[in-house]
Amino acid sequence: MTAINPVTDFSKDGEIGIITLNSPPVNALSAKVRDGLFEGFKAAIADPAVKAIVLICDGRTFIAGADISEFGGAMGGASLFDVQNMMEESPKPVIAAIHGTALGGGLEVALCAHYRIAVPSARCGLPEVNLGLLPGAGGTQRLPRIAGVEKALEMVTSGQHVPAKECLAMGLVDELAEEGKLKDGAIAFARKIVAENRPLVKVRDNNKKLEEAKGHPEIFANFRKANARKFRGFKAPEANIQCIEAAVSLPFEEGLKVERKLFGEVMMSPHSAAQRYYFFAERQANKIPDVPDDTPLIPIKKVGIIGAGTMGGGIAMNFVNAGIPVTIVEVKQDALDRGLKVVRGNYERSAKNGRFPMSEVDKRMAMFNGSLDMSSLADCDLVIEAVFERMDIKKDIFTRLDAICKPGAILATNTSGLNIDEIASVTKRPEAVIGLHFFSPANVMKLLEIVRADHTSKSVIATSMKLAKTIGKIAVLVGVCPGFVGNRILGARGREAQKMVLEGAMPWDVDRVLYDFGFPMGPFAMSDLAGLDIGWVKEKSHGETIRDVLCEADRRGQKTGAGYYDYDPETRAAKPSPVTEKIIKDFVSKSGKNPRTIPDDEILERCIYPMINEGAKILEEKKAIRPSDIDVVWVNGYGWPVYRGGPMHYGDFIGLDKVLAKMKEFQATMGDAFKPAALLEKLVAEGKKFSDLR
Ligand code: CAA
Repeated sequence: MTAINPVTDFSKDGEIGIITLNSPPVNALSAKVRDGLFEGFKAAIADPAVKAIVLICDGRTFIAGADISEFGGAMGGASLFDVQNMMEESPKPVIAAIHGTALGGGLEVALCAHYRIAVPSARCGLPEVNLGLLPGAGGTQRLPRIAGVEKALEMVTSGQHVPAKECLAMGLVDELAEEGKLKDGAIAFARKIVAENRPLVKVRDNNKKLEEAKGHPEIFANFRKANARKFRGFKAPEANIQCIEAAVSLPFEEGLKVERKLFGEVMMSPHSAAQRYYFFAERQANKIPDVPDDTPLIPIKKVGIIGAGTMGGGIAMNFVNAGIPVTIVEVKQDALDRGLKVVRGNYERSAKNGRFPMSEVDKRMAMFNGSLDMSSLADCDLVIEAVFERMDIKKDIFTRLDAICKPGAILATNTSGLNIDEIASVTKRPEAVIGLHFFSPANVMKLLEIVRADHTSKSVIATSMKLAKTIGKIAVLVGVCPGFVGNRILGARGREAQKMVLEGAMPWDVDRVLYDFGFPMGPFAMSDLAGLDIGWVKEKSHGETIRDVLCEADRRGQKTGAGYYDYDPETRAAKPSPVTEKIIKDFVSKSGKNPRTIPDDEILERCIYPMINEGAKILEEKKAIRPSDIDVVWVNGYGWPVYRGGPMHYGDFIGLDKVLAKMKEFQATMGDAFKPAALLEKLVAEGKKFSDLR
């Protein structure tokens, strides 16, 4: 074996040359890797004893793409195009041997091999779109030549990781190797190619599938139309589509030029900068400075849930889906039956949609043990309380859990804002108490706020973070404060939205501005969806707020067919409501205020800047570890558009000095709700950004 460079080896097995990359964690195409590939292929091609060349990777995966951390800086080392050219033009067959994932630039490298072999567990994809990019190394030109235009469109705009078997079926992979025996399989495959004198297949020369799409522009028009909602606001999907259009309409080299031009454009866009920032933010959120990687974990083999309502049932489904049985406790049989019926209904719907076979529904339901007796939680490793948001009830439950649960069990609350230290104080084991704040619908929403109380142990934190991954959630560790991170910032936005309505804006004006910013819906549409009567008590309602008046008129949101908006009984489409408009106008005139038209700019700034300011306060109080954690909460839990990075990234993007100046201007005219956070003042004074706090 010869070391080509620190991350690349070259060896021979008889007449087969083997280039092995080993650049942890994911063999990304850094300058060193590109250099290693370039020199490795040069050596293999020059070696007269070598008849075919296998490219394989050590570690967990084949090349997982370009090294994202290099983007935006000067790129040293060999160019990827030179590497690809050398592979494709090699006079000896080149075989890419794939395990783990061949993603982005990794798949683009593999597409320059003459043949590809993979283990069944491998996956291939071009996920650049998720970074606000497009495959910039020929992927958009080569993939449709193998996969066909429609499949290529789907792959480049979704970023999906396609399983090896499907890759084999579409010809993206030529052969499957036995799991765990990729190297042997690849060498044997290479020998076969040499023995059979198979041709040097260049994907770029295969135009058959493109010819089929020529003269059918409707393929693209239909695709755009079908996905318009999904792509709204994003720039990269359209750029990816245009590249595939170029593959169909232009010769290969010309198509490559279009790809390169559009790659440059998306790469320079703030959208891609935000999405790349977000990629690392999500991974950073897993790192807890004072909880080392080797912190002992508590094995979680059985979970208990208290409360079979919407939240409890949804939470339970996450564990069952991951193969962890659940005991779910309710106070009354009918409530338990109702809860389990809803869960079954959810599973049946998934089965009908083809997510899994119908037989799976019973299998999953068999993992639920319904009970009316809290003592059946005695052998659970984790219990999550998901009952009403009332401190007295929660304290009572935790007192009982403390007596019932086995030593070492984690006692969690799903509260969305109550003081977890107070809840923990009723137990003799506050170190076992933690907040696991799921978002509704809990079986769907990705975010999990993990709330660390004063005494929560490191083991309990590490286990909760790990468990979040097991059940497919994106976890962010936050501290105890009213509303934690997500709802606290939501409160800052909601207050301003409400105030603006009292000043003359209509709910749909505010919602439209936020929708255009990129949110899936604005705060008023969100209230209608959740139900205006959450926390509203009929007996205590005296028309003191617009919400009171709406609820009193039985306009309680979507469920009653009317709330802030009117809802079409057939389509459930929202329409601005003349009734609401009159209610608001009457309300404002009674308050003696002169309504005014609020410009869109002001609506946006008054909604967004207080969120950034609240984020700064959260950081000051150390309720979030880092600014990017706040962004991960907002992107995953509240629909903040990922191409704007999150509130803290957005603050950096527009300039904290600008945010501060506006907050001061608003404070002068509208009071201390706009008082700038000390941290915001400090960062501006020091000429720094939130990202400098990392
Ligand atoms: N560049 C740099 N670092 C990367 C990386 C990349 N392409 N992919 C992953 N990493 C890093 C992660 O940041 C993480 O680092 P830390 O441990 O320091 O946090 C580490 O590798 C492991 O990553 P994950 O935690 O995500 O590990 P996983 O096993 O859950 O997932 C993966 C592995 C599926 C490869 C996932 O990391 C992933 O999806 N990576 C991105 C793939 C991608 O987008 N490739 C396209 C890049 S752009 C491109 O290639 C442009 C082009 O056309 C040339």
